[in-house]
Amino acid sequence: MREKHAKAKKESKKGKVDSESNRTEEVMLQGDGMPKERTLVIIKPDAVNRALIGEIIKRFEVKGLKVVGMKMKKLNIEELYKHYEHHKDKPFFNELVSFMASIPSVLLVLEGKEAVAVVRRMVGPTLGREAMPGTIRGDFSMSIQCNVVHASENVEIAKKEINRFFKKEELYDYNRIDFEWVYAERERKIASGK
Ligand code: CMP
Repeated sequence: MREKHAKAKKESKKGKVDSESNRTEEVMLQGDGMPKERTLVIIKPDAVNRALIGEIIKRFEVKGLKVVGMKMKKLNIEELYKHYEHHKDKPFFNELVSFMASIPSVLLVLEGKEAVAVVRRMVGPTLGREAMPGTIRGDFSMSIQCNVVHASENVEIAKKEINRFFKKEELYDYNRIDFEWVYAERERKIASGK
């Protein structure tokens, strides 16, 4: 595992890892007036091991977020180095990458009005012990590393993360039949309206 880490780090520096150039160029589709902001959620190995996949997806669905992409995948060291690049000098980095690569995760792309911020609020702060009851981490996590889910931090990062893990053809555009009741007419018509 240590050798794999070293190789990935070296290749990451050379810019060889995951050029992301062949992925979706435009994930924030606009046009029909429906809210189209998208965000990435990773249901992490601890949640998969603890049989929490369904519970977590259900929370997002009943909130009114649309699942437009979903896959189970054992994330590889190279893509995890890219995904957590901003943490690469932190003491927990290698352990985090090993944990995330240990068994499959479930990756979701969720769509909705202000989806990035909505999902971040539903997930709660990084440290599970401090997260408020009612949030996903608050209800299911006691840990900082095994904190059940990852959710994109902001809209720009969400675009990059979605492109990193999903090809264009893996994202779906469809109408959810209940959306006339999830959003008011005015909210459906004005993409940026409150
Ligand atoms: P996530 O939202 O995936 O973003 C970065 C991850 O790093 C975070 O959730 C945690 O799983 C992990 N993390 C952050 N801080 C620490 C820490 N101090 N010790 C161990 N893992 C951490």
